[in-house]
Amino acid sequence: MSFALSNDVSIPRLGFGTWQIPDGEAAYEVVTEALRLGYRHIDTARAYGNEESVGRAVRDSGIAREEVFVTTKLPAEVKSHALAVEAFEGSSKALDLGWIDLYLIHAPWPWTEIGKDHRAGNIEVWKAMEGFYASGATRSIGVSNFNVKDLESLRSDTDVTPHANQIMWFVGNRQAETTEYCQAEGILVEGYSPLATGRILQNPEVQGMADRYGKTVAQLCIRYLLEHDVLPLPKSTTPSRIAENADVDWQLDAADVAYLDGLANTV
Ligand code: A2P
Repeated sequence: MSFALSNDVSIPRLGFGTWQIPDGEAAYEVVTEALRLGYRHIDTARAYGNEESVGRAVRDSGIAREEVFVTTKLPAEVKSHALAVEAFEGSSKALDLGWIDLYLIHAPWPWTEIGKDHRAGNIEVWKAMEGFYASGATRSIGVSNFNVKDLESLRSDTDVTPHANQIMWFVGNRQAETTEYCQAEGILVEGYSPLATGRILQNPEVQGMADRYGKTVAQLCIRYLLEHDVLPLPKSTTPSRIAENADVDWQLDAADVAYLDGLANTV
């Protein structure tokens, strides 16, 4: 099962997140396991430092390259054309997969300057990314951590509408304004930290609902994103949980989705 990006590229509807998974054996083994368990969409970033291991695991998996969707990201602090080219070449080389499937601007501002206006820099790097996209070196391009204003200022001066926006998304934090804008404009919303980095797992209200479905809280929280057409990117280093998190072929009743929508302060 998959979503279609606005350029008709198909993207598997569940991705495996690799933030904070160290390069080397740890990342290699966990990505290998995720692929073995059926994941076909791996999300990494230059800033995670594990692209080399992610790429090696995909190459060694024996799965055809076209069947695995790989996302990586331009470091948040890169806001110039020349450094964007350098970073993209670095990622392409580290992954060594022939092409990248989705390339994202990691954030609208460097992590040390959250909220600061980098409009001109984002437009400059986006133009570089339009070039990577036009050349076929990446099959789609997008952004991450962009709000409506960030998206509007980027789009006012560039040609390609981002194919995706990856934002933090979980029960109690569904970023309604950004999500609605993106979905109206044909920008796929991807949700990272669907388990609130694990903090939601102790929530008694969500636990009670999960029990009714015979699912775990993690499974319910991941399925909740899909009910909103948001692509979940759960991450785990535990094989049994990696498998558990892939059980998304079921549905939440509309009344339960509405109830979850109304929850605030879940963590
Ligand atoms: P671990 O890697 O030890 O399995 P998020 O995707 O929201 O960022 O959450 C990731 C955190 O949630 C990690 O600490 C991960 O721990 C934990 N986690 C992931 N899947 C599950 C699960 N099915 N059950 C319990 N904890 C989980």
